Amino acid sequence: MKIGIAGKGGVGKTTLAGLICWVLKDLGIRVLAVDADPDANLGSFLGFPEVEKITPIIQMKELISERMEVKGAFYKLTPKIDDIPDRFMKEHEGIKLIVMGTVKSGDAGCVCPESTFLRRLLHQIALRKDEYIVVDFEAGVEHLGRGTAEKFDYLLIVVEPSKLSVESFMRIYPLAKDIGIKRVLGIANKIREEKDKEFLDLHLDRDKILGYLSFSNLFSEVNRMSNWRILKEDRIYVEAKGIVKKLLNSGG
Ligand SMILES: Nc1ncnc2c1ncn2[C@@H]1O[C@H](COP(=O)(O)OP(=O)(O)OP(=O)(O)O)[C@@H](O)[C@H]1O
Ligand SMILES: [Mg+2]
Repeated sequence: MKIGIAGKGGVGKTTLAGLICWVLKDLGIRVLAVDADPDANLGSFLGFPEVEKITPIIQMKELISERMEVKGAFYKLTPKIDDIPDRFMKEHEGIKLIVMGTVKSGDAGCVCPESTFLRRLLHQIALRKDEYIVVDFEAGVEHLGRGTAEKFDYLLIVVEPSKLSVESFMRIYPLAKDIGIKRVLGIANKIREEKDKEFLDLHLDRDKILGYLSFSNLFSEVNRMSNWRILKEDRIYVEAKGIVKKLLNSGG
């Protein structure tokens, strides 16, 4: 199963991605976490050691230039890339991680070598069959070409109870549907009270929301200590389990 996670900045994409990885792993499922955010921190969330030493693949200029066979303004459209995921993958406590990075959103559709490389790499990752794949995207899904998008079973758009976040959902949703992602659903995060739920139910349609994650007071400690592990003791971990069960039950 391939699961992408999108949504406005700061809504909780990395949190959801990290929680899903933990739950899958605890269920005995092999997981490959893919960080496609320029400000990569999924590795920190998952407790990978020395994350600051992991160079996002997109920053490996020499590798990209060599594989893309860049000559002046020309380069290869189908670079050799099949060895890249395994070569740069890290593993910690049974979870695998690839830190891909991204090109600037504005350039995502561009035909520069980095953008093409990234698209091919995501496609290569989406072809993998042995693990569940969880991709923490930057905000939207600009880096997904149709051929790759169709390999994704789910795009989960994280929304918090705010108008801006809902607007972001409204922008991403049709784009994701359009490029062929099988199921596009919202995950409501930072729910403090019934009114928050009602707000999102009203603006997004109840049936577009797969699940809810409560606002957690533990985040002040999480943020101070950079210790996400304590979330395993929180109700949002139980809620995340419920969300994963729904994903598994509706099949990949
Ligand atoms: N359920 C929650 N309860 C309380 N605070 C939360 C919750 N989820 C996320 N947050 C807060 O929002 C911050 C951002 O969360 P997170 O890093 O998961 O978002 P993001 O969408 O990945 O952000 P970015 O767009 O910067 O990558 C967290 O550091 C935390 O302070
Ligand atoms: Mg993030």
